[in-house]
Amino acid sequence: MKLVCTGCGKTFPGKAILYRCPRCEALLEVRYPEKTFTQKRTWKGSGVWRYEPLLPTKPLVTLGEGNTGLHFCKNLPTLPFYVKHEGENPTGSFKDRGMTVGIAWAKKLGATTVACASTGNTSASLAAYAGRAGMRAIVLIPSGNVAMGKIAQAIVHGAKVIQIDGNFDDAMRLVQQTDAYLLNSINPFRLEGQKTLAFEVCETLGRAPDTLILPMGNAGNISAIWKGFKEWKAAGKISTLPKMIGVQAAGANPIVRTFRGQSNSCTVAKPDTVATAIRIGAPVNWTKAIAAIRESGGDAVTVTDREILAAQKILAQKEGLFVEPASAAPVAHLLKTKRRGRVVCVATGHGLKDPEVILRGKPKWVQIKPDLRSLQRVLR
Ligand SMILES: Cc1ncc(COP(=O)(O)O)c(C=O)c1O
Ligand SMILES: [Zn+2]
Repeated sequence: MKLVCTGCGKTFPGKAILYRCPRCEALLEVRYPEKTFTQKRTWKGSGVWRYEPLLPTKPLVTLGEGNTGLHFCKNLPTLPFYVKHEGENPTGSFKDRGMTVGIAWAKKLGATTVACASTGNTSASLAAYAGRAGMRAIVLIPSGNVAMGKIAQAIVHGAKVIQIDGNFDDAMRLVQQTDAYLLNSINPFRLEGQKTLAFEVCETLGRAPDTLILPMGNAGNISAIWKGFKEWKAAGKISTLPKMIGVQAAGANPIVRTFRGQSNSCTVAKPDTVATAIRIGAPVNWTKAIAAIRESGGDAVTVTDREILAAQKILAQKEGLFVEPASAAPVAHLLKTKRRGRVVCVATGHGLKDPEVILRGKPKWVQIKPDLRSLQRVLR
């Protein structure tokens, strides 16, 4: 196993602590020898570590991540589709798939301090896994616009929580200047864990989906999952690949703009959206993400905050699935389009992460005196 530069192709030893190529600054990718995919393999157990033969390390720190439900949804005014509910992971988001592998790798390297910049879910996951591994966790969060549930998780799991007087992009710039082992999505080992979603979806469906739709923030997840589909095909487990559709919020859409040729820098100066998990103006993985979308014949699209909140509500009310706003973005897109075939929407995080978004505004329940007449009056 080695690290390969996605820009110039230069290779580095797997154990090198690098996040970017020293020669051309491009992102790195974990690559396995050809025989990894052609050898006969046994897949044991369920969840992320079922796929250990295609991962860089043994399971050193696990909380039982992965093996999330693939829910068939047919009650919405769209064609039927599936939701892969990543909110069912141990800390309530897909980040746990990556963190179990990333922390195991950190342990192998002998790291004692791990860090990330985060819109919330990465810090929650990092804090939990670092605690279990006996490591110090440092998380940098933007000022405001982080869901309360996520901060509470980082605190309770014992991370050092540092709020930056700036946005996510400022936090990201800063954390890269520390000496800690970084577990943001520029870490190629973390992405190895996240690719297992592709394996699980294919195993549950008995084939690859036709289309996979997911939200994009830093766009590590779409890059990781696309790598997963390609590796599952290389292993002879599927014969087709899905189209990858990346969804961004209209107020934080640098990848969509770049994909459509409206921007070269892939930045938005003042990102803003109710979907705080994807409120990112300078996505670090944008080159990988655009390559994945192009290679797959997919698309990069936007949805408005209003569409996101409407999708969150209808998914909860008609399908029993409570997802956070960012995770409702794929369904918001689906509600506007008629996508045929086997469509899988990735719900990246649980709705309980961000209850404030549901409760704000006018009161959502009625209060009555404790007598039957009052109750009958409100039920009429
Ligand atoms: C719930 C949720 N959805 C989507 C994303 C975006 O993932 P990525 O940055 O890998 O594109 C995040 C990242 O924080 C998230 O927490
Ligand atoms: Zn390079």
